[in-house]
Parts: sequence; C-alpha cells; structure tokens
Amino acid sequence: MIDRIFATSKRERDRRHGGKDAETCPIIQGIRIRKPEEFHAILMPNCYGPELDILKDKGIPDKNIWAIERERENFNKMKRVLSVRMLNRPMDVSEALDHIWTLQPKNDLIYLDFYSQPNILRHFPALCKIFLLGGGMIKPGGKLILTFGRNRCHPHVRDLNNAMGRLGWRHVPEHWVDLVIEMTGHQGYKGLKIHEYSSFSHSQGLVLKFYITEMDF
Ligand SMILES: C[S@@+](CC[C@H](N)C(=O)[O-])C[C@H]1O[C@@H](n2cnc3c(N)ncnc32)[C@H](O)[C@@H]1O
Repeated sequence: MIDRIFATSKRERDRRHGGKDAETCPIIQGIRIRKPEEFHAILMPNCYGPELDILKDKGIPDKNIWAIERERENFNKMKRVLSVRMLNRPMDVSEALDHIWTLQPKNDLIYLDFYSQPNILRHFPALCKIFLLGGGMIKPGGKLILTFGRNRCHPHVRDLNNAMGRLGWRHVPEHWVDLVIEMTGHQGYKGLKIHEYSSFSHSQGLVLKFYITEMDF
C-alpha cells in the first residue's frame, strides 16, 4: 500500500519536473567520482528528487548526503522514507548550512533546487554561507547547482522581475555568486553554464521559465 502511494507520488513528481530532470540529471550523472566514500553532497531533494538515486547508484554512502527541507509536512515525510542525513527539524537552507558545515564542512556537490523566483532575502544569505563558512563549503573540483524559476510568484513581483529580465534576469544567480566571491576573496569558479527550459502553467495561464546555473570550482 505504502509502496503504491510512493510510486504514484513519484510518477506525478516526474511528470511535473520532466523539463528540469532533462537538464539536471545529465549534469549529476556526468560527475566523475573516483572514491564514492570520499564524496560529499548537500541537496534539497524532497522525497523523490532523482539526484538521490543517481548519487546512490554511483555508490555514495547515505551518511555523506545531507537533505535540507524547510516545510514541516515534507520534512516529516522525508524523515520516514529517506535514509540520508537530515537535521532534527525543518529549516531554511541558510540556517541548515550553519549546522551542516560543522558536520560536513567540505562538499563535492551542493545542489540547491530552489525552483522559485530569485529572492535576495531568502536565497542570497545561503550563497554567502556556502563561500564564507569554514573558508568555503565546496571542495576544489566540486560543483554548485542552483535552480530558479521565473514567473513562479505573486503578479506584482512577477512584473518587476519581467522588467529586470530585460536587463539579464537569467544572470541574477551568477551575479550574486560573483559578488560573494569578490566579498570573501574565495577562489572563483572555473566554469559556468546556464541551462534553461520553459513550461506552461495551465493554472496561471503563463509560460514559466526556469534557469539552472551550474558552476565548477
Ligand atoms: C522544487 S522542490 C524539488 C525537490 C527535488 N530536488 C526534485 O527535483 O524533486 C524543492 C524542495 O526544497 C524545499 N525548499 C525550497 N526552498 C527551500 C529553502 N529556502 N530552504 C529549505 N528548503 C527549501 C521545498 O520545500 C521542496 O521540498
């Protein structure tokens, strides 16, 4: 019964996130891992994020993977079904990083699947912590992946963002990281790619645009 509920929810998730998976799964699949036991990751996978299965298939031990979640209902469900590491209560990513860095300070992959509109109050502090805590939480050779979605917000914010978009909205996450790197003196990224895809929201009657920023350090 539980398995059937799980399979149905996963199918529904896969249907909604097909566009994103087509971009992000090959990135994670493509990470070369020589010693799985030395590979460390921080994710926001909810219960069904394919990033978990990909890393597990590559032999990464559960104890090397942290799953962050801020919503109580998701968090409780994840605690029941996931075997990776989780904090003892739901937390925003920015607060979660304060705890995780003391336990797993250096990481090969940090994948923050925000999916929502970039928001300086919500998202920028987390980026600062990634580059500040312990001199930086990404190992040399490691990867940072950020996903954001445009138009996934209240109409008045959407209009402002659409106006900003004409000035290069897709580059907002990259500008933020550049700023943090400049502020902290952290080593810059060696490579950056922006992947994008669109989907149509029938409920909002809008084209939603998604950007995935991939940075190699
Ligand atoms: C877009 S979902 C994607 C989950 C998974 N990566 C997948 O592809 O199915 C992102 C998850 O992270 C959580 N989340 C979003 N923003 C967060 C934040 N600022 N701090 C902690 N969790 C957050 C959401 O509640 C949600 O469960």
